[in-house]
Amino acid sequence: MVGESGCGKSTTGRTILRLYNATGGEVIYDGQDLAGMSEKQIKPYRKRIQMIFQDPYASLNGRMTVNDIIGEGITIHELYKGAEKQDRIYNLLSHVGLKREHSNRYPHEFSGGQRQRIGIARALSVEPELVICDEPISALDVSIQAQVVNMLEDLQQELGLTYLFIAHDLSMVKHISDRIGVMYLGKLVEVCESAELYKNPLHPYTKALLSAIPIPDPVVTRANKRIILEGDVPSPIDPPVGCRFASRCPVRIAQCTEENPELKEMAPGHFASCFNI
Ligand SMILES: Nc1ncnc2c1ncn2[C@@H]1O[C@H](COP(=O)(O)OP(=O)(O)O)[C@@H](O)[C@H]1O
Ligand SMILES: [Mg+2]
Repeated sequence: MVGESGCGKSTTGRTILRLYNATGGEVIYDGQDLAGMSEKQIKPYRKRIQMIFQDPYASLNGRMTVNDIIGEGITIHELYKGAEKQDRIYNLLSHVGLKREHSNRYPHEFSGGQRQRIGIARALSVEPELVICDEPISALDVSIQAQVVNMLEDLQQELGLTYLFIAHDLSMVKHISDRIGVMYLGKLVEVCESAELYKNPLHPYTKALLSAIPIPDPVVTRANKRIILEGDVPSPIDPPVGCRFASRCPVRIAQCTEENPELKEMAPGHFASCFNI
């Protein structure tokens, strides 16, 4: 899921996990509506769905050792005890490229990339099916970003995981995603297979996002004109009537400020919400 900062990506991720309660709509997971469940009903899903947070500094409790951070979920969900639990923690540490001796240290003793590895080990500790990765590399140094993405891809292969990978630009998600949803001001404006989105973007917002990806070739760069969006993102608390993107849209028509376009299947498997496609 891609969209600029403040459009509601984290809110969506946290609502899926019920860290926030939805004020409307449904969250269908494996045929069940998570949004309508009681606290007791939701508990097994807290094991099946885990989250990796954007900020590896704020998301780890600084007063807990790495061992306790990774072991907490294992204990809460009663997965392993004693020596088995300790083995599991060591195993998780090696999976994310950390060492046994790191287990007795505290988060502040690690670099940003290492902390994110601890956050990933914590998420994996309860053997989830779905991991919501909320901009897991945005806060990291560029040199570390590729390492962490590669590790996430390896773990996905090895453990058969599904990721909902959240990012604020399209350059990051090209390789890791099978399908991409583009969000603008709290609503998905385009959803399709990853390759199709890059080849044949339909929504004007997606086109603008794609044009913002730097291309390391001056000839290609000159040929592809960058689309600069004017104005700011309107407030999600008081969204405009009609299409939410209309105030910044280069191809706006009269209908756009009056009616809200629905997400429609424009080509097989390719959904977009725009009156002017
Ligand atoms: N559907 C929504 N309705 C009302 N406010 C929202 C909605 N989605 C997001 N917000 C508000 O917008 C702000 C930014 O949302 P956030 O999810 O953090 O954006 P992002 O992760 O895309 O940067 C938050 O203050 C949040 O409360
Ligand atoms: Mg966010």
